[in-house]
Amino acid sequence: MLFAKVRKNIGERVRKELLHREVLSANYKVKTDNHFVYFPVTRKINLHGVHYITIVVEPQKKKPKSVVEYLEEKYGKTTTQQLTKSFDIVGDIAIVELPERLAHFDSKVAEAVIAIHPNIKVVAKKLGAMSGEFRVRPMKVIYGENRTETIHRENDCLMKVDVARAYFSVRLSTERMRIATLVREGENVLVMFSGVAPFALVIAKRKPHTKIVCIELNEVAVQYANENVKLNKFYNIENICGDVKDVIPERFLNWADRVVMPLPKTSNEFLDVAFKAAKNGAMIHLYHIGDFENAEELIHKVAKENNASVNITGHHIVRPYAPRLDQICVDFVVRKKNQ
Ligand SMILES: C[S@@+](CC[C@H](N)C(=O)[O-])C[C@H]1O[C@@H](n2cnc3c(N)ncnc32)[C@H](O)[C@@H]1O
Repeated sequence: MLFAKVRKNIGERVRKELLHREVLSANYKVKTDNHFVYFPVTRKINLHGVHYITIVVEPQKKKPKSVVEYLEEKYGKTTTQQLTKSFDIVGDIAIVELPERLAHFDSKVAEAVIAIHPNIKVVAKKLGAMSGEFRVRPMKVIYGENRTETIHRENDCLMKVDVARAYFSVRLSTERMRIATLVREGENVLVMFSGVAPFALVIAKRKPHTKIVCIELNEVAVQYANENVKLNKFYNIENICGDVKDVIPERFLNWADRVVMPLPKTSNEFLDVAFKAAKNGAMIHLYHIGDFENAEELIHKVAKENNASVNITGHHIVRPYAPRLDQICVDFVVRKKNQ
């Protein structure tokens, strides 16, 4: 490789000139000895005080920038294609997905994750799909401390969660901020299916003069929700453990200025009770898996059954759910006819 040899005292000036004239090579390391600096260059140019010499050197290795790059470099593209492409980071836990037939790659994927993200303390592997009423999935720790509990920071809030015992998705952070921005000070906000209370926390952070009620069936999630309220020192969130179909008729009929419904898979079963919780003029945010027409048809049907009408103010795709299937959100205002 060709190197420009210069005395140390003019090294910086020459480096800038080589850079400016676009001859400095990024593929080789700059070398030094007691008196000289040696800059790798792509060709000779006339510069005062510069001599050119050839040194035999190995090109510099580029550091991989992602887990995929790291794995590709070590194990080749073909193998890597079958491995995980995306993974989630919750606090200091990385959650990866690996096909069963590639189980022998567990430790290699974990090694790649740690190499790229040195702050990760635990790598956990998904052992199945999210299932059951609580929407949790089994997991196995494949690297690091044997725990699935962590504290995640999102939208300036701390969120403590056990990712194997309660639902939590980092992919909803933008949506949580969108809702928090829409909330007005003074509102009563009802978060159905509240999990460890991420929606409530982000709302409370942005709009402290609100009353937020969270209803969640999973006792473990409610324990974390209570811890999160303390952790963030928010005093306007009440967490209730129970079924929305029981709790709302008992305590929250015509109570809410805003209802958030983050249970997209079976939202249709709970829209009726959301209407009952809504005040006249309240806004409901319905999450749904499917298309807008389908969701809006459902909204009009349930509105009619509740002697109400609706004004749909917006809809959007929240995130892809499966190939050609999205999680969507429809926002609408409820008008109750007899009020
Ligand atoms: C998709 S998760 C959403 C959790 C949380 N809102 C979040 O964004 O992280 C749905 C949650 O609804 C809860 N759930 C399911 N059926 C329920 C019901 N009938 N009443 C109250 N909570 C329920 C589950 O336990 C689960 O935690």
